[in-house]
Amino acid sequence: MRIDIQLIPIPPDPKLLSSRAVVVVDVLRATSAMVHAISEGALEILPVTTVKKAFEAAGTFPPGTTLLGGEEETQRIEGFDLGNSPKEYIAERVKDKRLVMKTTNGTQAFGLVSSGLEIMAGSFFNINATAERCMELGTDLLLFPSGDEGNFSLEDTLCAGMLIDLILRGKGNQLELSDASHCAHTLYLRFGDNLVEAFRLSRHGKELIRFGLEDDLRYCAQVDLTRIVPIYRRGVIRRFGR
Ligand code: MLT
Repeated sequence: MRIDIQLIPIPPDPKLLSSRAVVVVDVLRATSAMVHAISEGALEILPVTTVKKAFEAAGTFPPGTTLLGGEEETQRIEGFDLGNSPKEYIAERVKDKRLVMKTTNGTQAFGLVSSGLEIMAGSFFNINATAERCMELGTDLLLFPSGDEGNFSLEDTLCAGMLIDLILRGKGNQLELSDASHCAHTLYLRFGDNLVEAFRLSRHGKELIRFGLEDDLRYCAQVDLTRIVPIYRRGVIRRFGR
C-alpha cells in the first residue's frame, strides 16, 4: 500500500486517481462541518463551487427538504440557512435534511478528485474510522488537503499526517510513503499533541480568529467524535453504506 499526498490543491494526475482511494480534508472547516452534519443525521450533501449553483441546486428539490450552508470569507452567505461552523450542523437543524454546501476550498476539492476509486471526507472528528476504512480498502491512497485558496494548508496537511500515522501503526512496513507523505507525517509528529497550536499558526486559522471564530479552532481539533466516514459519489456525499 502506498500513500501519496497532494500538498497543493491542483487537479491530480488522473492516472494517480483511478486506482486509488482518496481522502479529502478541509479541517477548518468544510469537511469538519460535513462529517458533523452527516453524523447528526443529515441525509446527503451536495458540494458545489458557486453561490449561483447552490441556489439552482436547492431549487430543484421540494420545499422544506433542503438547506443551504457554507461561507464566503468565513461568513454565512446571504440567503443561506447555515454558515460553515460545524457547531451549526446539529440534529435539530439538519436531521433528515439535504444540504447544498458552497465554501471557498472544501467544496471545490471534491470535484477535483471525482474520478477516485472511493472518495472519503476526512477530519479529526472521524480520523480513526477513516484510517480503518483506508486499511480495509487496502488500495493505494491519495490524501487531498483542500488547501488555502490554491496554497498549501498547514492544518489540512497536519490532519493528513495523523491519518498516515494511524495507517503506519496498522500496516507497518507494508506501507510506502512518498516524500511529501513523510513531510506530512513529520508535521503530525511535531504538532500531534497540540493541534490548536498549529491551527493558530496557520493563515486560515488566524483569519478565523480575526473574524471572531476562534472557538471553531478548538472545536475542529476534537478527535474521534464519530465513526462515520462520509463518501462522495456522483456529486453527492452520503454516509458510507447508504
Ligand atoms: C473552506 O472551504 O475554504 C473553509 O472551510 C472555509 C471556512 O470554513 O472558513
